[in-house]
Amino acid sequence: MSKERANSLYPASMLTRRSKVGIVGAGFVGTALAYACQIKGAAREIALFDINKAKVEAEALDLAHGIQFTPAASISGSDDVEVLRDADVIVITAGPQQKPGQSRLDMVQAMTNIMHSILPKVLNVAPDAIYILVSNPVDIATYMALKMSGLPSHQVFGSGTVLDTSRMRYLISQETGVAVQNVHAYIAGEHGDSEVPLWSSAEIGNVPLSRWGATVNGGIFDDKLKQRISKDVVESAYRIIDGKGVTNFAIGLSVTNIISAVMRDEDRVLTVSSLLDNWNGISGVCMAAPTLVGRSGVGRVLDPPITLDERDALTRSAEKLAEVAKTVGL
Ligand code: 2OP
Repeated sequence: MSKERANSLYPASMLTRRSKVGIVGAGFVGTALAYACQIKGAAREIALFDINKAKVEAEALDLAHGIQFTPAASISGSDDVEVLRDADVIVITAGPQQKPGQSRLDMVQAMTNIMHSILPKVLNVAPDAIYILVSNPVDIATYMALKMSGLPSHQVFGSGTVLDTSRMRYLISQETGVAVQNVHAYIAGEHGDSEVPLWSSAEIGNVPLSRWGATVNGGIFDDKLKQRISKDVVESAYRIIDGKGVTNFAIGLSVTNIISAVMRDEDRVLTVSSLLDNWNGISGVCMAAPTLVGRSGVGRVLDPPITLDERDALTRSAEKLAEVAKTVGL
């Protein structure tokens, strides 16, 4: 390929060093993630690993046939874990599929079995990678991967509530008529039913949401509306699963965003799930908090001002996760 053509296709950072993302699981989430990484140019190499040889090879081939139109340079798929060797980032999407009505925490035992069968093999070929857990229940999967691998806590984290935060921002944007990129609001805690929207620190541009007033739908941004949005975010996945069986596109884009933050060393603030150490009094649990994410994985966990109610809700979310972690011997 000529230099000029390469320059027009690849962001400058990608021309100077090789970057490889390895995706474990070529199901709905793994393939949506691979596709999002490919079209966004999150890595030069995308490698898919799955125990279903025919499926993983077919998915990789289908994606590779579009390389002419995207920034990714190579896409491979195999049932041999060697395909992941020396990846910079490993994303684990393999896991049980959530059935209609089932909560993420209900899948903890099935997820545990899958992690025990997969993780040691992957660690063997990519010991220096940054590990991003996506399989549900993601906070428990993250804690389990951290314990099983013995890796330092900055190297292993989960997608946490990055998607829930995006869902919340989307709904706020719909009510305020302001671009979602200018909505600054975060959800922390469990990626699941006990998650905690941090309403007290939410802003539109630099206006606190508490001072926003009228919405485009003729209402007021009051507590009732906040409760409706919080409920809507928690119920989103259930609604989508009822309608199409899985959620995959938005999680694919969310995790691509996390991968880019790592590959490009961006120190972006993302609500990933990591091992907390006295964050609002919470320790020894992996759960989401606004966190800097860069080339070393997890950096500083931010300490936004929160209300006593939010603090209590975060404590309850952490207690719930600790209780479930115990059921699988963590
Ligand atoms: C989601 O929130 C099911 O965790 C998945 O879309």
